[in-house]
Amino acid sequence: MTRADDTPIADYARMLRLDGRRYVILGAGQGIGRQSCHALAANGARLVCVDVDKTKAEDVAHECGNDAIGWAADVSDRASVERLFAEVGGLFGGRLDGFIDIVGRAQYADIGELTDELWDWHFTQNLRHAWLAMQAATPLLEANGRGEMTFIASASGITSAPRHPAYGAAKAGLMSLVRTAAVELGPKNIRVNAVAPGVVWTPRISGYLGEKGKARNEANAPLRRVAYPSNIASVLLFLTSELASYVTGQVISVDGGVGAKFPFPMDDL
Ligand SMILES: NC(=O)c1ccc[n+]([C@@H]2O[C@H](COP(=O)([O-])OP(=O)(O)OC[C@H]3O[C@@H](n4cnc5c(N)ncnc54)[C@H](O)[C@@H]3O)[C@@H](O)[C@H]2O)c1
Repeated sequence: MTRADDTPIADYARMLRLDGRRYVILGAGQGIGRQSCHALAANGARLVCVDVDKTKAEDVAHECGNDAIGWAADVSDRASVERLFAEVGGLFGGRLDGFIDIVGRAQYADIGELTDELWDWHFTQNLRHAWLAMQAATPLLEANGRGEMTFIASASGITSAPRHPAYGAAKAGLMSLVRTAAVELGPKNIRVNAVAPGVVWTPRISGYLGEKGKARNEANAPLRRVAYPSNIASVLLFLTSELASYVTGQVISVDGGVGAKFPFPMDDL
């Protein structure tokens, strides 16, 4: 039987493996970040697990094994990001296979209530570090001859973002940055993508929404459930792997079908 290309089908499982590859995970300490560290390490990757919380960074590195390193850094700070990637470069012989940036935070306020400080805070906590990490990591990925950068956007950056307008605007900006970086870095064999989750049941979001909010979101989702961090980590693993070798400049929604819903009330039909 002839096939369209020369990749044996049996190799697809092997292509998910990351053996011998080195990745930095930003925001590794809990929630989606922690689960993503587990997903990549279980598939063979050597990790540097970065979090502003030193104990959490070290704990997740310990859980992952495979010589993972825990690293404390505030990635919204340029000097910290430059030091991180310089030292990672020293550790890995000037090369790196990629990074996943999971850092992001929101506070609730309407447009009229937002202060200058809160507006700037959202862009620092959700967008600035993506650009800083891209700048600092690119030479290491370029020296490696290939690589991936993957980011966490949000459904709030695709639709409206009630009570969190600056967060939504910053995540929308992140998606634009991802597309621009994919075009700029594609010729260097560096892929750049993002995942846009809906509601993911992490320590952060469970604190915001509570059980009542969880039930409302489950009822709203076509799949009738919220996501757990593993639902996002599996897509991040796919995007990081060779299975996604021709995917770049994309934002993949992982929202249980919420974004696919018809936007108008149907009760009268
Ligand atoms: N949970 C959701 O429902 C949801 C939905 C859409 C998008 N997201 C996005 O997914 C990402 C992760 O969300 P989560 O719910 O797992 O978050 P989380 O708050 O549970 O975990 C984030 C981790 O990042 C670390 N961190 C925060 N700021 C940092 C900084 N400046 N430098 C280094 N580390 C820092 C925190 O200490 C924490 O360990 C965020 O970007 C968030 O905006 C989450």
